[in-house]
Amino acid sequence: MTKPVILTGIRANNDLTIGNYFGAIMPIIDMAKKHSDEYQINMFIPDLHSFTTPIDHNLLYDQILHNARVFVAAGLPLDNDNIYLYRQSYIPAHSEMTWVLDCFTGFGEMSRMIQFKEKSGSIGDDRTSVGLFNYPVLMAADILLYNAKYIPVGEDQTQHLEFTRDIAERMNGKFGDIFTVPEPVKSQHEFFGNDQGLRIKDLIDPTKKMSKSDESGRGVIFLSDDPAAAAKKIMSATTDDKAEINFDRQNQPGISNLLEILALTRGVSLDSVITEFKGQTRYGDFKSTVASEVEKFLSDFQTRLAAIDDNAVIKKLEQSERDLTPIANATLLRAQQVVGLRPKSNS
Ligand code: TRP
Repeated sequence: MTKPVILTGIRANNDLTIGNYFGAIMPIIDMAKKHSDEYQINMFIPDLHSFTTPIDHNLLYDQILHNARVFVAAGLPLDNDNIYLYRQSYIPAHSEMTWVLDCFTGFGEMSRMIQFKEKSGSIGDDRTSVGLFNYPVLMAADILLYNAKYIPVGEDQTQHLEFTRDIAERMNGKFGDIFTVPEPVKSQHEFFGNDQGLRIKDLIDPTKKMSKSDESGRGVIFLSDDPAAAAKKIMSATTDDKAEINFDRQNQPGISNLLEILALTRGVSLDSVITEFKGQTRYGDFKSTVASEVEKFLSDFQTRLAAIDDNAVIKKLEQSERDLTPIANATLLRAQQVVGLRPKSNS
């Protein structure tokens, strides 16, 4: 019996923040390790998706490898045969399947995709690529090629997941069961747990999410920051004038954010740091504690990252790509057969 598949794509990004790290990368790697006995885990870098909006193409190839290295530094085991790590563009079936699905996808349904409307709205019609329009179809191909059942994605991707189910059901209805339909969003949430919503906030404006697009960079800690400079950013984080440490996101968002950052960088529960600091009045001492923990976390992380053997990472990518290509090709062939591009098998 083959194992059910959990699949997720993580977009390449050169300026990963500690918010990305603790909010997205770590949870996915922990999930992969937790489920890898019972499930096949497909983790991939959607490099074809990464230029649906304009980018600096001189950086893309290195970014992809850099991200793979970050996953390993974050704990992704390279020697677990149930966890695959691959690049979308190295398995050509992704592009080929997209074309087949494209021809059964409505212009109208793609036009209604919220992410497309948002992104194209901010770019303007003439600079909006057809690739951006097509983004959800490529994503459906990513999922359907491997018969994936569970797909952990953020809230902003649920509409794309629903489209994946729609197109799979549409094709199955027309041609017979050629695709595995992924689980509905509700069962996905039940499986992965609804409330993973770890969101580190900006240090200067702790009411908004920490995001790399922050202009000054003072409210954001990047994984590549100099650890001592990151500690300084913690020291100048916005707090409040209550002069008492409490975890209260509404009324003390800055202090609450620092408590959260402390728990995550120490690798302990939020409750334990709340208990440790609750009611204390010296913000300066508290900030120094957080600052030195962040400094230590970053220097440890950067040391681990620097020690990663690029060849081992590339070997893992290539091995996964070799192993998964036949699976992707088998699904592609089923689709090519039913649409009439390939002869039907005799059996
Ligand atoms: N669109 C996803 C994101 O922006 C990345 C992605 C591409 C993906 N293909 C996928 C996620 C397939 C899950 C399954 O986060």
